[in-house]
Amino acid sequence: MPDVLPSDNAHYKTQQYWDSRYQTEGPDATFDWFKSYDDIRPVLEANLPPPAPSSPPPHPGALPHLLVLGCGNSTLSESLALVSGYTHVTSVDYSAVVVEAMRARTAKLGLDADRFTFQVADIRDMALFAAESFAGAIDKGTMDALLTGDGEDGAGGKAYDPWNPPRELCAEVERYVREVHRVLCSRGVFIYITFGQPHFRRRHLELTTTDGVPLWESIKVQTVGDAFHYYVYVCTKT
Ligand SMILES: C[S@@+](CC[C@H](N)C(=O)[O-])C[C@H]1O[C@@H](n2cnc3c(N)ncnc32)[C@H](O)[C@@H]1O
Repeated sequence: MPDVLPSDNAHYKTQQYWDSRYQTEGPDATFDWFKSYDDIRPVLEANLPPPAPSSPPPHPGALPHLLVLGCGNSTLSESLALVSGYTHVTSVDYSAVVVEAMRARTAKLGLDADRFTFQVADIRDMALFAAESFAGAIDKGTMDALLTGDGEDGAGGKAYDPWNPPRELCAEVERYVREVHRVLCSRGVFIYITFGQPHFRRRHLELTTTDGVPLWESIKVQTVGDAFHYYVYVCTKT
């Protein structure tokens, strides 16, 4: 664990914190939140579309093009390519510092920079991607960073309560989840890996369209880890 823990949990929510953390860690550092790729590989490979479909995909959106949300300097993106064989992986983070470092790392690893890209983007507004661009999207710890509270509820200054997160925070997470849903193709999967238990996290995923139709056809919950469980939410788009 790098020696750059914030003095206040709420700093995890600020771009400034992440920029200065990645500056402190330096361009060659890597750090994986929660679990290593080896630990999560089985759950990813079991739920993501296979890297190379045996028959031609029905439309371009069904190509196994993956999106890594809030990639940080995790080895998750490169492992999707080098270990699991995915050829098209786009990773985003709102820290330009880490995106630049990860681009340099990609070049050193000899990965094709046209198909294996890192882009600066805020996951709450991914206008840079057209609808239905990806077959799979992976979040490891990123919604968790978004969900850290600032100690205020915006309506009376109460302490942050994970049972009842502030409305503004819920709205931001909702914007994010709707963006992920928009950029996924039909049958696409959103995999969210977190320490957050279902009673804290399901509510942020169980959204409906304006017509009241559930956003996700299914939301499966799995766990990884022994003594301490992490939760894996697998949301499949209709
Ligand atoms: C807890 S770290 C997880 C990093 C990586 N996914 C991993 O598994 O190690 C959260 C990451 O999300 C990024 N992040 C937080 N909020 C974001 C936002 N609104 N848009 C894009 N990236 C964000 C941070 O810069 C940081 O790199």
